[in-house]
Amino acid sequence: DPVSFSAAAPSNIALSKYWGKRDAGLNLPLNSSLSISLAEWGTTTRVEPARDGTDAVWLNGARLAPETGFARKVVAFADRFRRGQTLPLHVRTENTIPTAAGLASSASGFAALTRALAGSFGLDLADDTLSMLARFGSGSATRSLWHGFARWERGTREDGTDSFARPLPEVWPEFRIAIVRVDTGPKSQSSRDGMGHTVATSPLFAGWPAQAEADCAAIEAAIEARDFIRLGEVTEANALGMHATMIAARPALAYLKPESWQVLDRLWAARRDGLEAYATMDAGANVKLVFLEGSTSRIAELFPDAAIVEPFGAAAKFPGQPRP
Ligand code: DP6
Repeated sequence: DPVSFSAAAPSNIALSKYWGKRDAGLNLPLNSSLSISLAEWGTTTRVEPARDGTDAVWLNGARLAPETGFARKVVAFADRFRRGQTLPLHVRTENTIPTAAGLASSASGFAALTRALAGSFGLDLADDTLSMLARFGSGSATRSLWHGFARWERGTREDGTDSFARPLPEVWPEFRIAIVRVDTGPKSQSSRDGMGHTVATSPLFAGWPAQAEADCAAIEAAIEARDFIRLGEVTEANALGMHATMIAARPALAYLKPESWQVLDRLWAARRDGLEAYATMDAGANVKLVFLEGSTSRIAELFPDAAIVEPFGAAAKFPGQPRP
């Protein structure tokens, strides 16, 4: 029977993006992706047997109504471990991502839940298996099981048994991420719906999977060579290329807002002045910047409200890729 077990996982930002599924049921991607985890920004989840005999889910201390989307997803995910047995669970999720950052937490949420459920059920699973299980919750969760850089290999098998992420061994202590929050207005479309719509209707999507595969390889090589400029150039081009496929969807899917473009303009002007920082954007209006330690004061001047994360800082417990 399950025991009480707690686990944590960091959130992550893709440098080369996952956009498009080849199998929605197994949640298999059309292309590989590569990310950097956000150290102390993430999720801690506790799973325990329900003494009252009823499944229940808490988010940041508040008990959720069972019909809310998040509670249903968590319970459905737990069913993968219960395999038809009646084992009611209490799941308590705490996000350590400041809400002011405006970041989604499904990646760290499902990674932490996967580790917590595996621990609760006493399963000593290999990393590959944990990452594959996390994939069923959310694709980006495959990459959130570790700190540092991680690469999710798309795989080629139809059953998805070769589609999981692995951590890259490189430690790059000077690496920094800044999250520049943009006023997002009404909630944007979920990644799941957005990528489905892009794949189905965007005439620009045909070129995406091969380009994304090439970008992943280029970024991995740039990390190995500690070639920050190359990493930044490919990261920014990859994000803009993904957004171009969305904008060409019919009707258009536009996550970026005028304020996002203002941030990009300010960044590009500073780059002409020699700043070495590059942008990436996901299924929302916020802009994330990648840069090295030496550019921190310049970034803080340009974007005073940005939150700065040290992916290889003390909270990430390096070296050695320990489990979060
Ligand atoms: C733009 O992992 O949220 O952030 O697998 O449908 O849950 P599902 O999608 P999700 O998509 C993330 C999309 C992205 C790029 C990325 O993180 O690679």
